[in-house]
Amino acid sequence: PPEVGIVAMEVYFPSQYVEQSELEQFDGVSSGKYTIGLGQSRMGFCSDREDVNSLCLTVVQRLVERTGISYTQIGRLEVGTETIIDKSKSVKTVLMQLFEGSGNTDVEGIDTTNACFGGTAALMNAVNWIESSYWDGRYALVIAADIAVYASGNARCTGGAGAIAMLVGPNAPLVLERGVRSCHMEHAYDFYKPDMASEYPVVDGKLSIQCYLHALDCCYQTYSKKAKQAGILQGSSVLDIADAFCFHQPYCKLVMKSFARLMLNDFLKDPNPDFEGRYAGLESFRNVKLEEAYFDRSVEGAFMTSSKSLYEAKTKPSTCLAVQVGNMYTPSLYGGLASYIACNTLESIAGKRVVLFSYGSGSASAMFSLRVTEDRSPGSALEKLVSSLSDLQQRLDSRQKVAPPDFDSCMKLREETHHLAPYNPVGPVDSLFPGTWYLTSIDGMHRRKYERK
Ligand code: ACO
Repeated sequence: PPEVGIVAMEVYFPSQYVEQSELEQFDGVSSGKYTIGLGQSRMGFCSDREDVNSLCLTVVQRLVERTGISYTQIGRLEVGTETIIDKSKSVKTVLMQLFEGSGNTDVEGIDTTNACFGGTAALMNAVNWIESSYWDGRYALVIAADIAVYASGNARCTGGAGAIAMLVGPNAPLVLERGVRSCHMEHAYDFYKPDMASEYPVVDGKLSIQCYLHALDCCYQTYSKKAKQAGILQGSSVLDIADAFCFHQPYCKLVMKSFARLMLNDFLKDPNPDFEGRYAGLESFRNVKLEEAYFDRSVEGAFMTSSKSLYEAKTKPSTCLAVQVGNMYTPSLYGGLASYIACNTLESIAGKRVVLFSYGSGSASAMFSLRVTEDRSPGSALEKLVSSLSDLQQRLDSRQKVAPPDFDSCMKLREETHHLAPYNPVGPVDSLFPGTWYLTSIDGMHRRKYERK
């Protein structure tokens, strides 16, 4: 089968944000809790004008317009989301409206859901399709989109919203590596959405962190083993063979802790740790048990210090979008990948290996990797990908800041009008980015209508 990967990417985030330092004051928590303690600086949010359908319409149309592909060239389209507004009708079917003019209805795929993992499951499905006998030579389009909102309280500051579209096909600038994809799947009640009438999850914050770190340990160990078998890893640490690590990013402090945890895993497994080099000063941690160290501050602190320079080189560049938008849920990991690409040049990114860790509560997780191609010639797919993401920071800077009381009213309005029918949204249209799809009405039969700005 052909080598398969990500050909093009499109990122969409809301045009409005709240400043985390102002939210700290508004929520009456100590100054620094959200900004330093969790590592977040801004949080994007949507008014009642946007829902998961509109986010996906926006990101798909932008990708098609900017890449110049035709809707007839797409043979598979699927959406990973945990923002459920209909228990039966998929978001994918809503997106088929964009295909109407092209006459193409022969498009496989529907929606996939498991918390923040749905986008990764959709990507795996797309890749599997292209590698299979059912592939008809066309592209697959994978969408990850969510509106992440929490009830008021300590989790609210870890919300976010956004959508990412990935065009998947052969001859891609980002090629998925075969033979190393590793999963960890387990039953857990760490974060779930049993209340069908509410947008909010039920969340056990501490347990969700523990589940995330446990899944990371398992995926990393399996990935390391498979990388050895595949001949990708010759030495003892995957940290040495990957140029970048992108994580699912609920908040950025957890990403720093996660990177440190990879080093802890390597250290505990290493029969001959180098106490003169990478593991200097870590002698006393030789007998640490992973499952007893999820919240051990001395272990956490020591390994975060030892891994700091590697973290800054290999992971920090991928946190740009998450620090400024928040947890987008399914797009979070791919926002990390987009951020990594956006902060590189064509020369600096060519040939690099990126390891990705995807986590969805409940829980489903995976670690996999991709190689950036070496072909950096003008007009190459890699050049197009890098230049298409180069305006990311500028787009983040062009957003509108909203004061916490107005953000709070917006959340209350969403809460009160969620699933109301008929309903006419009242949020501003002026502040949306040009090209954004928005909700104009919901009729008495819950049918939603949209327009594009
Ligand atoms: N200055 C600097 N740091 C501070 C300050 C301050 N003034 N105040 C607190 N902190 C630090 C704390 O020490 C802590 O850091 P540490 O754990 O590294 O020591 C951090 O800020 C957070 O403070 P906590 O008291 O632990 O925060 P709290 O328990 O209130 O909430 C949580 C954090 C659990 C993440 C909550 O926001 C939540 O439930 N979020 C949703 C769940 C989530 O994101 N889970 C992650 C994986 S699952 C998923 O993706 C949904």
